[in-house]
Amino acid sequence: MKLLVLPALLALCLPLATARPCLSQSDVNTLTTHFGDLVSAYSQKLANQTLTVNFVDYSESIVTLMDSAGTTPKALLGMAFTSRANFEAESSAQPSVPFQVQDTWYNCDTITIRWLSAQIPQPVVGISVLQTVYRPGRGNSTNFKINEVWAEFDSAAWLIDLGFTITPPSSKKREIAFEA
Ligand SMILES: *[C@@H]1O[C@H](CO)[C@@H](O)[C@H](O)[C@H]1NC(C)=O
Ligand SMILES: *[C@@H]1O[C@H](CO)[C@@H](O)[C@H](O)[C@H]1NC(C)=O
Repeated sequence: MKLLVLPALLALCLPLATARPCLSQSDVNTLTTHFGDLVSAYSQKLANQTLTVNFVDYSESIVTLMDSAGTTPKALLGMAFTSRANFEAESSAQPSVPFQVQDTWYNCDTITIRWLSAQIPQPVVGISVLQTVYRPGRGNSTNFKINEVWAEFDSAAWLIDLGFTITPPSSKKREIAFEA
């Protein structure tokens, strides 16, 4: 008996001492659904459930939209959202747009999403990397919240969807070539 009990006790104690909770597929499904809903059906309640208070978002694409072709100048490499409250103030003023998650990849604490926003006339695709933290709460559908987002997407297409027009330069400098 004793021989059996000791390993069982060790098995109980060791993970408690060392384990760090990791994202499960179910956490990933919940967080990516909620993340999409914040774009397509924003509510402050959902933002509070999904994002930490200290949430920040880095995205030159978003800042480029905010910059609106220089009509409201922004530092393009600055933060897109500096806190959850800032995200909430900006998001509540925006019209909803479609948002479909097309793929997800994840590790212990980070989720990468490939997404499509099927806007008209231009579809927009993007990649968002969601860094999460463990924030258990009773009755919550996930014990993780999103703490930091890094995202880039086709902001040129999105500007056209917002009604901007893009005028090609008169010179022939219209293709981007990458050379070794
Ligand atoms: C969201 O959280 C803020 C505090 O960060 C609070 O003032 C606000 O009432 C909350 N909103 C909802 C709908 O829960
Ligand atoms: C989740 O947990 C937090 C912290 O305990 C709590 O404020 C929130 O209302 C909970 N519920 C949901 C549905 O997220």
